[in-house]
Amino acid sequence: MAETKLVNLKINDRDVQVPAGTLVIEATRRLGIEVPSFCYYPGLSLQAACRMCLVEVEKMPKLQTACTLVAGEGMVVHTNSEQVRNARKFMLEFLLTNHPLDCPVCDKGGECELQDMVFRYGADTSRFVEEKLHRPEEKWSDLVYYDAPRCILCFRCVRVCDEGMDVKALGVGMRGANSIIIPNGGDHLDCQECGMCIDICPVGALTSGTYRYKTRPWEMQYVASICMHCSNGCKTTFSVRNHEILRANNRDLSGINKEFLCVKGRFGFDFTMHPERIKQPLLRKGEKLYPVSWEEAAQAAATRLNEIHTAFGPDAIGFIGSNRTSNEENYLLQKLARSTFGTNNIDHHRTADYTGLVTALGDRAADSLLTMEQLYKSKAVLVIGNDPTNQNPLVAWQIRAGIRHHGTKLFVINGQETQLDRKAKQSVVLGGVLEAAAVRWLVTGEDKLPQELATQLGVMKQALQAETDVAILFGSSLAGAAIGNLVEFGSNLPGKVRYLALGDYANSRGAADMGILPDRLPGYAYLDNATAVDSLVKHWGGKVPSKPGLTAPAMIEAAQSGKLSALYVVGANPLAHYGTLGFGRGKVKLLIVHEMFLTETALQADIVFPAASGYEKDGSVTNTSGEIQLLHKAGEVMGVRSDFDLLRILSHQLEKLGLGKAFHYKNPAAVFEEIRKVVPGYNVQLAGLLTGGAEATSLQFSRNGHAPYDVPVQLIRSANDTLFTSGSLGRFCTMMQSLPEAEVKS
Ligand code: SF4
Ligand code: SF4
Ligand code: SF4
Ligand code: FES
Repeated sequence: MAETKLVNLKINDRDVQVPAGTLVIEATRRLGIEVPSFCYYPGLSLQAACRMCLVEVEKMPKLQTACTLVAGEGMVVHTNSEQVRNARKFMLEFLLTNHPLDCPVCDKGGECELQDMVFRYGADTSRFVEEKLHRPEEKWSDLVYYDAPRCILCFRCVRVCDEGMDVKALGVGMRGANSIIIPNGGDHLDCQECGMCIDICPVGALTSGTYRYKTRPWEMQYVASICMHCSNGCKTTFSVRNHEILRANNRDLSGINKEFLCVKGRFGFDFTMHPERIKQPLLRKGEKLYPVSWEEAAQAAATRLNEIHTAFGPDAIGFIGSNRTSNEENYLLQKLARSTFGTNNIDHHRTADYTGLVTALGDRAADSLLTMEQLYKSKAVLVIGNDPTNQNPLVAWQIRAGIRHHGTKLFVINGQETQLDRKAKQSVVLGGVLEAAAVRWLVTGEDKLPQELATQLGVMKQALQAETDVAILFGSSLAGAAIGNLVEFGSNLPGKVRYLALGDYANSRGAADMGILPDRLPGYAYLDNATAVDSLVKHWGGKVPSKPGLTAPAMIEAAQSGKLSALYVVGANPLAHYGTLGFGRGKVKLLIVHEMFLTETALQADIVFPAASGYEKDGSVTNTSGEIQLLHKAGEVMGVRSDFDLLRILSHQLEKLGLGKAFHYKNPAAVFEEIRKVVPGYNVQLAGLLTGGAEATSLQFSRNGHAPYDVPVQLIRSANDTLFTSGSLGRFCTMMQSLPEAEVKS
């Protein structure tokens, strides 16, 4: 590897060594010396608009902007000389000439960079007596408001929308003192409504429609947790007052997503306070569901499950788990199914074939799965059968950042055009040809594809064969044997190849990792894997059933025909989902559901337990790239309970009836301790997680001579969410759903 050249310079009489090409402003930060800045923003292009970062450099005739000056060998820099201090004072005075002094009512008051700078570096008097130019505040959308007089024209918003988001919805209008930011619709925005521009604005010029004038920053608590919408696992800081979430952002730039959040992560939290939240257990009496006490509901659930278990045996009951409940809850659910009831009838709506990928990789799984950071750093990225801008917004952000910062080469193979195509070195639009056929062609060149398509794929294959570090991402259209082909193609590329299966929801990967699967134990272990079974038996007692169970669609079909007597559904809506396959509740004798809302499935249930959302509980989730992160309880809704609590309660009721052992875990952390011991790849460092970081799982997987793996058609199904939808959760995000863009794009 080529060695990085270093340069030596002196800043405020201290020596520092930095890689060649480092900006002086970054060199000062290495020493913990603050050089104030507004327009400089790491990761975005340089603007040199605000002149706040002026520093004195010996042998240079005038002050220099530290944000554009590259550190040079032998440079001597002063950041706190009298000349520099005066320059800052004058720049702030200049910025304040037209800035309204409305800090007491400004949303940004208390966390405004201009306020802080004036406090630290500003003059203590103002010489300005002229009348200020006023402009009325503008509402650009339900989510974004602009107050021009507060704007200090740093252009961070314009750059983040253009470079970061590739939306280009903001521009600059007028000239000089009259300059303003203008939205693409003239007087309104037509964009992705991500709110990145609001977040990045150093002052209160851009404010959020959901948060403005609601509270003051010091009146809230700040809780770090994970976005519950898609599978990318963005870290989010919730601003909470009186147990209610008022704002979501990631302003401390921590976690795998740094400052990034899409519209769902930033604004899609109001479902928590939706008036249709279920807040009391419901029990069916005849045609209707009636509110009942917790005791009555829990006893009814345990009694009826026990009766069915006794009368019809373990396999008369099926369990459908969730893509959005925590790892701990998923783990407990499969433990309940396997250990208490003795069945492998457990599955969930699978949106990516993680089992297929792990199986295809075999013993290479541990170091061949791609993290979000590795995605950013990859030299080449191949996306197959997915539209990351809509379905995996952080993935799209990482890819764009890689292209911008170090020239990542992007290749796309998809049925239709995607927004990422315009950033791609090459994109192949398949039209009616299946992604699986394109992959087969890449491996064997044998499939009969239209000539033009084959030529394009040939060019792409050749380009990829010249790359040494390739990330391969794929969506739900590649499953089972098709993933095997893809891994074979990757194995023939010359350098390091890593893979990322793109699922849909916050814990899609965690659900699969935890063994919410009818044919695999936690960590994808085969049901006959003696080591895995022994380890589970050691922790659970009893037995682990060895007969493969029914898949989710097979359970719904069996419930409909009466072959399955009871169905236990946690945080999922299979009747809506598999309803498209013609399934309904049918003849099932007992349907129990944990839910937040009366979804299609909950409406058919015999017993409904009101469940807490991911924003109202502790636990852990694993994003689609296998990075585990902790959930922390942010909001609180009276009357609901976490699925962890609900499963604990049920296990105690069942034990009283002589079925299984009660769960005695004190809290989700105690379950996670067990997970660390029994789920391969989950024995991660706790320190990293507890300090708000992500820890990548490292799966050890052996095929052990099992037959090649494949999946039935329809088993892996994406919900094909857009930027503004996310299954049943998205339906209850009122603000987001009211946006005109949501209508067009969903
Ligand atoms: S909300 Fe996002 S997409 Fe819209 S203007 Fe702001 S940065 Fe651009
Ligand atoms: S609106 Fe905010 S981010 Fe945009 S130029 Fe003005 S001050 Fe900067
Ligand atoms: S990219 Fe996904 S995880 Fe990140 S904020 Fe958006 S919906 Fe949430
Ligand atoms: S931060 Fe250097 S000119 Fe704005």
